[in-house]
Amino acid sequence: MTNLEAPFGALAYFLDLHPDTGDFKTDVLKGLAQPQKSISPKYLYDEYGSKLFDQITELEEYYPTRTEKALFLGHADEITAAIGNGSAIFEYGSGSSEKIEWLVRGLAAPVAYVAMDISKDHLIESAKALAGALPVPVAAICADFHAPVELPQGVLPPPDSWLGYFPGSTLGNMLPETAIQFLTRASQTLGKNAQFLIGIDLEKDIGVLKPAYDDAAGVTAAFNLNLLRRIRRELDATLSMDDFEHFAPYNEKNRRIEMHLRAVKPTSFTIDGQIFDFQEGETIHTENSHKYSVDRLKDLIEQTPWRVNHVWTDPKGWYAACLLSNN
Ligand code: AVJ
Repeated sequence: MTNLEAPFGALAYFLDLHPDTGDFKTDVLKGLAQPQKSISPKYLYDEYGSKLFDQITELEEYYPTRTEKALFLGHADEITAAIGNGSAIFEYGSGSSEKIEWLVRGLAAPVAYVAMDISKDHLIESAKALAGALPVPVAAICADFHAPVELPQGVLPPPDSWLGYFPGSTLGNMLPETAIQFLTRASQTLGKNAQFLIGIDLEKDIGVLKPAYDDAAGVTAAFNLNLLRRIRRELDATLSMDDFEHFAPYNEKNRRIEMHLRAVKPTSFTIDGQIFDFQEGETIHTENSHKYSVDRLKDLIEQTPWRVNHVWTDPKGWYAACLLSNN
């Protein structure tokens, strides 16, 4: 049996690996039963949450998106020259033309662009838009990047090699051991002579980090609190939004910004007859955003099959673009 469906719209192919997207209720009940209550950050990104995240990227305080863009564009010639000829781009997460066009147009003779994402509707929509905008065949694979993926053979002109592309510092959301597993799997997926271009946020002054995750306008707070709204609405939990607040501390030991939903007073709520109690100050952990130094990033890569080819940083040293190779 093949998962390969007939050409989809303007896409060279659309492959649905039917990723397990998880069950909100099951995962919430499980996460809230742990001593440190926690819920996967993937549930932050429903339709409204994704809109809020887009707003976050435009905030004055949220430096990563614009810093990465300036870094990639400012070094576009050098980065594309280092990558070389004839590769096909495989993006982890579905891109927007803004995030990918500089790379496709800068590369000498790229042969294709393939987007992979867990969210099928979002993937198809953005891949189709890219198919109209990019001068190469565009394909899409609906899959989870925490599971193995095999690239289909014989559908696109075979590239000399694959270039993985993973911008947005999403690698930083994984625990280091998960990042190592992810990079190891990506090395198997992308194969011999592959390269991997990664954008990763770096350690910096806490005075810059904190407001980026707790902005004055409260957009990040709304993004985090949206998870409680989902729990109330979709799981019929009897909870009062006023009993919780956005809390984004920097965890010095693990070098990461964490997002939590913190009870401002003793409270409880019920889902499906199960009661969850909160003491004042108790939290639900909702996200980690690890901040690397270039050295710690190199240490991490050393624990994978990849080797570091080049690291570019912006003048402030806030963000890194890292080119890895697989040979
Ligand atoms: C898109 C996951 C990289 O960690 O900076 C932004 C998500 N969370 N503000 C990040 C996020 C709070 C963002 N990533």
